[in-house]
Amino acid sequence: MVNKSVRSFDEKLIKLGEIKNMEVTILGIVGSPRKGGNTEVMVNTALEAAKESGEVQTDMVTMAGRSVHPCKGCSYCWFHEGVCSIKDDVEEILQKMVKADGLIVGSPAYFGSMTATLKALFERCLKLNILKDDMGSTDYEKFKDKEVFFPLRNKVGGAIGVGGCPSGGQEKVITDIHAFFHLNDMIVVSDGGIRTPAVHPHFGGVGTARRKKEILQDPYGMASSKSVGMRVAEVAKLIKWGIQAQGEKKR
Ligand SMILES: Cc1cc2nc3c(=O)[nH]c(=O)nc-3n(C[C@H](O)[C@H](O)[C@H](O)COP(=O)(O)O)c2cc1C
Repeated sequence: MVNKSVRSFDEKLIKLGEIKNMEVTILGIVGSPRKGGNTEVMVNTALEAAKESGEVQTDMVTMAGRSVHPCKGCSYCWFHEGVCSIKDDVEEILQKMVKADGLIVGSPAYFGSMTATLKALFERCLKLNILKDDMGSTDYEKFKDKEVFFPLRNKVGGAIGVGGCPSGGQEKVITDIHAFFHLNDMIVVSDGGIRTPAVHPHFGGVGTARRKKEILQDPYGMASSKSVGMRVAEVAKLIKWGIQAQGEKKR
């Protein structure tokens, strides 16, 4: 039985979320505008590890070469049932995000923060989290009987950061990505601990590298990325299969 409170007014999104089989889908998002760079290597490593754990299919999108504009704050989506006034590559990426059971998002540190392109993508997710009929209202009493649907709810999120210097903001990049996960009611996971050699769980995949693919020389960067992939896959399965075991559709 689908909980009424998480039923969507958007039938298309419900269809996308339907469980078709027991496999989980993990989507990697590369926040770097540099094609084939360190972030791409790390996210790819995480996806490979997720796939190796079994019952996982993966997909990856990169910000490199994509047209992703920041939100204009025009509120058009609030009054037009989630339709964005900006036409660029974002819609295609959002569809993939909504379909996935888990997200692995990586970004290089750019002046201590995630890249502007990744931030722009996050801002454009506003259209996903709107309420039917009462757009823009802050009268929360009015919302209580409304049908609310957060399409990223219960998806699992793991994060990866890389910088040219060891204290260049990697951890901050990761916690900023975690903030996006939290604000979409996702399940945020750590790197789950690096298995070999055994290291306690930390924030996520952390690497130090500057030149393209230099990350391959950073054993911690590679190992922590791998363990993010394993952890996201593990929890995504727990959630998807747990929901199915309860006899409920995810959404
Ligand atoms: C505009 C810009 C700003 C950067 N700022 C930082 C920074 O604040 N801290 C840091 O450690 N590295 C910084 N770097 C270096 C990148 O994080 C580093 O080269 C990283 O490996 C790039 O990842 P990519 O290969 O996935 O693009 C910066 C690079 C650029 C181009």
